[in-house]
Amino acid sequence: MATAKTTKSNETKNTGSATAKKTVKPANKTAKKSTTNTAKNTSVAEEKKKILFVASESTPFIATGGLAEVIGSLSKALASSDKFDVRVVIPLYSDIKKEYRDKFTYLGNLYVHLAWRNQYCGIFTYVKDGVTFYFIDNEFYFKRPGCYGYYDDGERFAFFSRSVLEIMPFLNFYPDVMHCHDWQSALSAIYLKTNYCFREEYQFIRALFTIHNIEYQGQYSLDLLCDLFDIFGEYRYLVEYKNSINLMKGAIECCERFSTVSPRYAEEIKNAYYAHGLEDIVRKNEFKLCGILNGIDDLSYNCELDSHLFANYKPDDFSNKAVCKKELQNMLNLPQNSETPIISMVSRLVSHKGLDLVTNVIEELLQEDVQVIILGTGDASFEGYFMELAKRYPDKISANIVFNGDLSRKIYSGSDIFLMPSKSEPCGLSQMIACRYGTIPVVRETGGLFDSIKPLHNGYTFANYNAHDMLYVLRQAIFDYKNKEEWSKLMYRAATTDFSWSHSAKEYESLYLDMLK
Ligand code: GLC
Repeated sequence: MATAKTTKSNETKNTGSATAKKTVKPANKTAKKSTTNTAKNTSVAEEKKKILFVASESTPFIATGGLAEVIGSLSKALASSDKFDVRVVIPLYSDIKKEYRDKFTYLGNLYVHLAWRNQYCGIFTYVKDGVTFYFIDNEFYFKRPGCYGYYDDGERFAFFSRSVLEIMPFLNFYPDVMHCHDWQSALSAIYLKTNYCFREEYQFIRALFTIHNIEYQGQYSLDLLCDLFDIFGEYRYLVEYKNSINLMKGAIECCERFSTVSPRYAEEIKNAYYAHGLEDIVRKNEFKLCGILNGIDDLSYNCELDSHLFANYKPDDFSNKAVCKKELQNMLNLPQNSETPIISMVSRLVSHKGLDLVTNVIEELLQEDVQVIILGTGDASFEGYFMELAKRYPDKISANIVFNGDLSRKIYSGSDIFLMPSKSEPCGLSQMIACRYGTIPVVRETGGLFDSIKPLHNGYTFANYNAHDMLYVLRQAIFDYKNKEEWSKLMYRAATTDFSWSHSAKEYESLYLDMLK
């Protein structure tokens, strides 16, 4: 349960963790009228633009993958410019780290209507790095381990998405751009454009919908349309697709603009191979589509400063990277041979990450003088395969079937080659992180991998989804690794490639401003 300072205990019998108050008052009663959208138009030039991110996770509070990193780091990068007032809203999961929960401030609560439901919605806040975060509290929906994977995820995120719109009057904060991410927040864009935009304060809010992965669309039975999602007859066509409710489709239809997390992926999802059935909708709406490559937090992923590493080093002096390698081999019980290249994978162990290519040729690869390190969890079949393989080749492969942030950084820094042969990859952050530590990526040319890794400049690439094409390029990298002088130059170019948000945050800035014209 939430333990915000202003909350004493779970005293009331509501489904939220905060103490309920009967009356709801705006958090900032004295806020000037000019903060509303109606008045805003006259003074828009001088005011900071108000951006609200709506997402299901964000670092540093809760993270299951790349989405959280992007929400945390992009919001911070945007807030550092004085053009934007950036706020983020996510659910208050019970898994949010206590060190943060204890610092949250309880603002108040209200009740959110959705079809016949009327649910408690507590609001907590916390400011980090210039970004105001809001947390939506409801214990019935969010006091569970993890973030997803429940039978009622549709209902949980419908409640969350509706709450986002309901808390706006309470906060007296109506964004200029409501920036929704992935299917869990798709309904915020849908509700905005079907119900709320008819209200004066909401009428100028623009919706941007960013697809981090088109595979997960939020598909539900049409029977749930009214009863669960509170969408009635005239709007049915917006969310109906191939005889189901499809929330991602609805958001694409409703938003002013939609984007993907790399330019290449924006092209790819116009085709059936990548679009998981949504290619027609993407093509129909392509006039409002763009792709912006993600950045990474280059202060966090920094070989000079990262305290998780066995030793720190600089891009112009990699001598301590050898210490990282030796200690990593020691930790993972691999022979401490400095001349043997280490090929690593830090990945979810699922098929679209290209694991079937790996399992196809790994025994051929292991004939070379290499060591392979795997870190990640996922499909039981892949987990079992790598554990079994590690038993057969204990001196050559280390399989770590866990999710471990500390170990991942030790692996990024202690390896020589980073393998990422994804079948599809909307952006991918790991190849950029590997580069930052001077570890050379070998990637398939898809999505953000194509946009971020340039052959022989900062990595190796192969085009076709073919195991032996991958093996061929890996062998080339293993061969080149022996040429120390050239390899050091490659490491330097990789480690100094600019993967910060500086460029991409500007592209978002332009996109927001364009949307507000
Ligand atoms: C999703 C995508 C990944 C991307 C991340 C952040 O996890 O699968 O490619 O990097 O979102 O946008």
